[in-house]
Amino acid sequence: MKRIAVMTSGGDAPGMNAAIRSVVRVGLEEDMEVFGVNRGYAGLVVGNFVPLRARDVGGILDKGGSFLQSARCPEFKTEEGQMKALHALRERGIEGLVVIGGNGSQAGSYALSKRGFPVVGIASTIDNDLYGSEITLGVDTALNVILEAIDRLKVTASSHERAFVIEVMGRDCGYLALMAGIAGGAEAVIIPEVDTHPEVVADEIRSAYERGKNHALVVVAEGAKYNATKLEAYFKENHERLGFDLRVTILGHVQRGGTPGAFDRILASRFGEAAVKALADGETGVLIGLISDKIARTPLEEVNSHKKTIDEGVVKLARVLSK
Ligand code: ADP
Ligand code: F6P
Repeated sequence: MKRIAVMTSGGDAPGMNAAIRSVVRVGLEEDMEVFGVNRGYAGLVVGNFVPLRARDVGGILDKGGSFLQSARCPEFKTEEGQMKALHALRERGIEGLVVIGGNGSQAGSYALSKRGFPVVGIASTIDNDLYGSEITLGVDTALNVILEAIDRLKVTASSHERAFVIEVMGRDCGYLALMAGIAGGAEAVIIPEVDTHPEVVADEIRSAYERGKNHALVVVAEGAKYNATKLEAYFKENHERLGFDLRVTILGHVQRGGTPGAFDRILASRFGEAAVKALADGETGVLIGLISDKIARTPLEEVNSHKKTIDEGVVKLARVLSK
């Protein structure tokens, strides 16, 4: 394989740039020509390629986001969009593609792979909801951004004897909320995987108040049935029942734009190398991820037919530690 391309797709994640840099430099080491695809699948369907040399990926290792930019592209979900992408790739003589992205993006790479094009995915999303990697690119940095916010909110919550509901990202997956809850010392964690009625949350807050705590923090995943906005509405007229006065903070996209930490820069560099090696070995149609601390290749077919589950032991730990 002599000519490959790399792209980022879906929600950006800290470490994407480090992964692009690694793909480019390892590819050059393997005597490959490397192209970047601008704007994810939206760029792929129109053949928006740019040649990348070692110097073109200088100065990006420490930057969040993706210098190739990311996009969401409904057209690529259609047969016509995928045929256009294949045409663009073949017209440029590109023989292999690395797709850095999350669940949706890897559904896209599987679609291309089923059409016979050699693709390798790199597991990248702050949600950590991708089967085939115990930890995905960007999660560690996002968690540290969340923790910084939680630590600050705890300070002001304690000064005013307040409860805070803090909403973090996670459309279908409570990983960020759960881990932020444990690392940030939350009194309650609410995730999409576990149905939690607001009255249960109220009991937790009330109980923290009665145990003499001067604050209560509830970390909720955005995809939970009762997210921050719904909890706020539920408790609107009833703060007294909680013991504490209540405030709500939705962290939003600030979680995605962090400067990648050491863990994500190193993971990205290893993932990039592994993706190029998989293309060079001719083992394509796989996702590069981390399993039991080792780089793993999982077939995209398996990635796309399995849902990552949350560890119930960790859910229990969060509950025990909140006392
Ligand atoms: P993420 O990769 O962060 O989960 P999305 O779910 O938004 O992000 O998906 C990113 C892009 O991947 C979509 O805009 C679309 O172009 C492509 N994609 C998503 N699902 C599919 C699918 N089932 N088939 C083909 N392409 C898909
Ligand atoms: O998939 C990553 C993610 O950050 C989710 O946690 C969040 O729900 C979504 O992307 C936000 O998407 P957008 O950037 O389109 O608002």
